[in-house]
Amino acid sequence: MAERTFLITGGTGFLGGAVTVAALRAGFGAQLRLLVRKSPEGTPAMRLFNNLRRLGATERELGSLGQDFMLEADLGDEGAFARHPLLKPVERVIHAAALPTFSNNPFIRRINVEGTLALARALNPNRLERFLFVGTAMAVGPSRTRGSVIEESTELGSDEDHLVPYTASKAEAERRLREELPNLPLVIARPSIVVGHTELGVAPSQSIFWVFLVGHMLGAFTCDLTDSIDVVPADWCAEALLRLATQDLLEHDLYHISAGKHSSVTIEALDEVLAHARQVAPMAANYRKIGTAEIAQVLPKMREIVPGANRRLLLRALQLYGGFAELNYVFDNSRLQAEGLAASPPFTSYLSRCVETARGIAIADQMKWDFK
Ligand SMILES: NC(=O)c1ccc[n+]([C@@H]2O[C@H](COP(=O)([O-])OP(=O)(O)OC[C@H]3O[C@@H](n4cnc5c(N)ncnc54)[C@H](OP(=O)(O)O)[C@@H]3O)[C@@H](O)[C@H]2O)c1
Repeated sequence: MAERTFLITGGTGFLGGAVTVAALRAGFGAQLRLLVRKSPEGTPAMRLFNNLRRLGATERELGSLGQDFMLEADLGDEGAFARHPLLKPVERVIHAAALPTFSNNPFIRRINVEGTLALARALNPNRLERFLFVGTAMAVGPSRTRGSVIEESTELGSDEDHLVPYTASKAEAERRLREELPNLPLVIARPSIVVGHTELGVAPSQSIFWVFLVGHMLGAFTCDLTDSIDVVPADWCAEALLRLATQDLLEHDLYHISAGKHSSVTIEALDEVLAHARQVAPMAANYRKIGTAEIAQVLPKMREIVPGANRRLLLRALQLYGGFAELNYVFDNSRLQAEGLAASPPFTSYLSRCVETARGIAIADQMKWDFK
């Protein structure tokens, strides 16, 4: 892999940032190209470096980036990257940039589908060896039997089937990459639910974590205590993505990056660790399973727990996450294991660190990670 040129997108985000840090640590600094868009929140370089530092990058690791690594471009503006000279030598791509929001952001399809296809088309087919598309395990949609172990297969839910436009867009991007670019050296990596970091907890991003806190404080949610939840930490997920991008030969062109049967944990086990970390009694016997339709009834209590949150947004958020939790899916990860990757650390092994690092951050602020 020594001289390969890599492109990583999404470096200012949670997972793309974690992959960039993993790539720097693995010594690929001089070979990286990073696509970052302009933003009123700061220069691309400043936002990128701040994020990589938040994800644990040292100054030495940041200093290992080459002279000309930054490709300033928005995925929604094909003209900004098509024929860009920095793309010409690119051999391996980890495409993690997306709008992974649960909101109805009107740009979801444009960025996640059209932007992905435009990027794949802009790469030099004579150099490109692998286009690793970071999809989502939830691209299968919600119509599988509750409690299923979802196999690693190209079969996807239909567009109408999805709980949110985001997962539909990721499914459409996968499908269209295969259909419209049959010669693309495509590998799909579908992470399950990425929450926190094994060492840094939720300091780099509180995305999704707040849902566990709210459910625990409510003592009620849409799953049974015996249900399992498939959660992976960002740093482990990043290592898996880097491995899929760099390993010369892969057995498959689609992988779940998931906890799977081995490392998924039950709600009961989460309850115990959460209760201990929060220094409260476990919800255990007092826990109440409710349907998504009943979530509105617990809204007054939720508003006490999450003061300052927008009422409509909070309700919609919990109904959507409740809809996902109710499915009780576990995502088979036999393929990743067969490639030799160690199993994901179970969520319960770093959950206390997540609680510790979330202390002092208002839940209303934590929610903002998921509603861009
Ligand atoms: N987090 C999860 O639980 C999870 C689970 C399964 C799959 N995934 C997938 O993992 C990937 C990363 O997710 P994440 O959780 O890390 O999300 P994130 O923190 O929101 O990061 C998204 C990244 O995409 C970039 N981006 C968005 N729109 C862009 C545009 N128009 N042009 C260029 N860059 C753009 C963002 O840049 P800005 O900083 O400029 O906004 C940011 O760097 C996504 O593809 C998502 O579908 C995530």
